[in-house]
Amino acid sequence: MTPRFTPGQLHVHSGLDDMMATARALRAVGRKIALVPTMGALHDGHRQLMRTARRLPGTVLTASIFVNPLQFGPNEDFDRYPRPLEEDLGVCRDERVELLFTPSREDMYPTGSEVTVDPGPLGRELEGAFRPGHFAGVLTVVAKLFNIIRPDYAVFGEKDYQQLTLIKKLVRDLNHDVKIIGVPVARDTDGLARSSRNAYLDDDQRTAAVTLSAALAAGARVSAGGAEVVLESARAVLDKEPLVELDYLELRGTDLGPAPSRGEARLLVAARVGSTRLIDNIQVILDEGE
Ligand code: PAF
Repeated sequence: MTPRFTPGQLHVHSGLDDMMATARALRAVGRKIALVPTMGALHDGHRQLMRTARRLPGTVLTASIFVNPLQFGPNEDFDRYPRPLEEDLGVCRDERVELLFTPSREDMYPTGSEVTVDPGPLGRELEGAFRPGHFAGVLTVVAKLFNIIRPDYAVFGEKDYQQLTLIKKLVRDLNHDVKIIGVPVARDTDGLARSSRNAYLDDDQRTAAVTLSAALAAGARVSAGGAEVVLESARAVLDKEPLVELDYLELRGTDLGPAPSRGEARLLVAARVGSTRLIDNIQVILDEGE
């Protein structure tokens, strides 16, 4: 192995040059890199991403923690986004991460961010319609991480389904040499999708937030009835919870184009509970059994 890397130990690199040198040295000895990009505040959802990455044969489990300013709007939660680095290091050790990249803002954007990745039309729909510029920020930082680390695999959660879809398009359209792996949404026992932003919710809001996954499940249960029935059932559940302010509830195809009249589709929801914005989604099989 290389002088920079002892297998089985957690190596933390903040500097781009160090990170690039270690990744290059690993590739030179035939190791593959499985990357889990994160913004930290690691929870069980991230653990599942790490476990998926760890199971890929011959790979060095690599994670990154960087709260990317470019993907936050001016009135969003960039400043209050949780940054519990010591706890995150504990999670990384627990999950046997061997390489962790924790760059600074200055290292990632030394000259600001003049050149960014345009996510195309899908980047302006759904989440993009409520968070202008968000996906340009996400795809820019993901492209940078891919260029710095050059992973063989990169693992993302399906909770951010639109993000995952756009990252697949990024890889396809800009020819990144990396295989993207999606991992199903991790949920608490009551159905709430795990998210670092759940930490903002008080008890009442936490109870109300469960309505999102309950609505999706209600929609999926009546999928044989077709799109209208799915949307009506999900909306009826959401309408009963006054603390939930709906941004959108949409049924789309698996690539987030228009929903097919039958077969696999995706039901997506976004809502605000207090000042916390939450998203969730579920697979729906339309006209099942017909
Ligand atoms: O999903 C996230 O945590 C972020 O959007 C990502 C992919 C790490 C980019 O900052």
